[in-house]
Amino acid sequence: MASPSDTRIGVVGGTGAVGTVTLGLLREHGFEHVRVFASARSAGKQLNGLTVEEATPEALSRGDVDVFLFSVGTGASRELVPHAVAGGAVAVDKSSAYRLEPGIPLVVPEVNGARALENEGIIANPNCCTIPLTCVLKPLHEEAGLTRVRVATYQSVSGAGAQAMERLRGESPDDHDLRMDWDFDGEEFDEESKLRDETRKIMELPDLPIQATCVRVPVMVGHAEAIWLGTEEPLPAESARELLASAPSVRVEDFPSPGKAAGIDDVLVGRIRRDPTVENGLALFLASDNLRKGAALNAIQIAELLLSGDRAAA
Ligand SMILES: NC(=O)c1ccc[n+]([C@@H]2O[C@H](COP(=O)([O-])OP(=O)(O)OC[C@H]3O[C@@H](n4cnc5c(N)ncnc54)[C@H](OP(=O)(O)O)[C@@H]3O)[C@@H](O)[C@H]2O)c1
Repeated sequence: MASPSDTRIGVVGGTGAVGTVTLGLLREHGFEHVRVFASARSAGKQLNGLTVEEATPEALSRGDVDVFLFSVGTGASRELVPHAVAGGAVAVDKSSAYRLEPGIPLVVPEVNGARALENEGIIANPNCCTIPLTCVLKPLHEEAGLTRVRVATYQSVSGAGAQAMERLRGESPDDHDLRMDWDFDGEEFDEESKLRDETRKIMELPDLPIQATCVRVPVMVGHAEAIWLGTEEPLPAESARELLASAPSVRVEDFPSPGKAAGIDDVLVGRIRRDPTVENGLALFLASDNLRKGAALNAIQIAELLLSGDRAAA
């Protein structure tokens, strides 16, 4: 592997909400050798000029793909990813199957990109709320040291996949409501514990106090997050704004919204202000496209990191 144009990519789950965005972005990023895989239900369908192949263990382990980008759900990833790796490919997996496994890198390129090069075949792509959150937290932590984070999410329906998008399209606006459609352990949704555990792993802050409340809102694309954080050193809102304005993949926007974030690559962050209820407190609001930076784009950036790592080693 050396450049996008000669790297063989397999998109597994190419017919899904994330997979279809992945196919469009791969083209924009100059990847020319792309194959698309999905379940037996979709095998033989035409998608973006490509014929969908069934993602069988045999097809994935044949050794004719360099990087697989998986967006198929946790159960299917657990079953299929090892076959892709056995065939010699690197698998970038967007499900939660491997994210917290010790030794498997969980990567946001702008935050801990170097970890991607430590992979032994699998790289995990974080949750669609964790990715933008860590892009925003990283520069603030480096400047002033995070002492705690509280976050409330407003997550779009596309985060639950293509079928959920269809349901929203068919629903009367009178029936729109907040949903909490994640696994509940009696105290927390798994989405909330993912946000905490993944943020700690990516930022390498295993004891960071972080508490989340997640809800799904009747918006098609784009997740928003209200964030309250504390820092060791005082960090005036104006300094935080300047740091965020120069942070990679972050754009300061006074009033971020899912609508403004949908279809663009950057994480939008605004409402940056002092939180007077705690010492050294800051409040912020972000919005990001969950299908792009929250999923497909982040994984493609990981693939690009691997290519530049190969070039540096050559
Ligand atoms: N949506 C987001 O914003 C987002 C963000 C971050 C991470 N993710 C993660 O990405 C994964 C996919 O999410 P999605 O929203 O794209 O879901 P989706 O729209 O439901 O798409 C699921 C895809 O997986 C394929 N698939 C399902 N079971 C399979 C199997 N056994 N073998 C091969 N292919 C199989 C489906 O193929 P068929 O069409 O043939 O059924 C489809 O292409 C999930 O793990 C999700 O947690 C999603």
